Amino acid sequence: MSFTIAIDGPAAAGKGTISKAVAAHFGVGHLDTGLLYRAVGRRMLDGVEPIEAAQALVAEDLEAEGLRSPEVAQAASKVAVIPEVRAALVDFQRAYARRSGGAVLDGRDIGTVICPEAEAKLFVTASAEVRARRRFDELQAAGVEVDYDTVLAETRERDARDASRADAPLRPAEDAVIIDTSELDIAAAVARAVAAVDLRRAIIQGDGE
Ligand code: CDP
Ligand code: CDP
Repeated sequence: MSFTIAIDGPAAAGKGTISKAVAAHFGVGHLDTGLLYRAVGRRMLDGVEPIEAAQALVAEDLEAEGLRSPEVAQAASKVAVIPEVRAALVDFQRAYARRSGGAVLDGRDIGTVICPEAEAKLFVTASAEVRARRRFDELQAAGVEVDYDTVLAETRERDARDASRADAPLRPAEDAVIIDTSELDIAAAVARAVAAVDLRRAIIQGDGE
């Protein structure tokens, strides 16, 4: 049986952290779909045409160095606007989602476009200021020289591009459980996510009896 857990939300909301913990809790795999767009964005910065880069993407590309940089994040959100780029990445994500035993996928459009039939959908969010502060702290810890205002401006710019695109814009699915992590630490956010998934499992099991 497959059980897909879709976790969407804006940049640095805590999707990846929560997804990894939820995947470990339920003993299933986790796909960070942002890496697909980051890998294509990175190839674009190297001069490769984005649609061709998306069509030629292989799993090893998701392990390339530098995918976590702010420059690649901006490039990712630019290639993510192109419908042909998105279309080229759909099959891989859907196949992962339907793995037997279940899977967690995090991104922007998992609950709305990639897996509208996902058994559990979460939308993880936080204020732009809190998210920018988290990204700023991460960059500083990694030794990257940045200032907070630049990180905040880039976060807002990427949110606006992701939410306003015509194809698969960032938005919660109608049936998503919203988790605002602005004032939650990681443990509290993970506990809410696990509880929301448990509830969905109980409902689905109850329906099947
Ligand atoms: O995947 P996404 O970009 O949504 O966020 P993330 O990489 O999971 O989290 C961004 C940063 O926020 C990480 O450094 C997390 O440790 C931190 N975080 C937090 O401080 N409090 C939370 N409730 C969730 C994440
Ligand atoms: O880690 P963070 O939340 O900052 O970004 P990410 O999840 O790695 O995504 C990078 C960019 O890829 C986003 O700003 C989106 O433009 C795009 N993306 C998308 O369009 N659809 C997804 N399912 C995942 C990411």
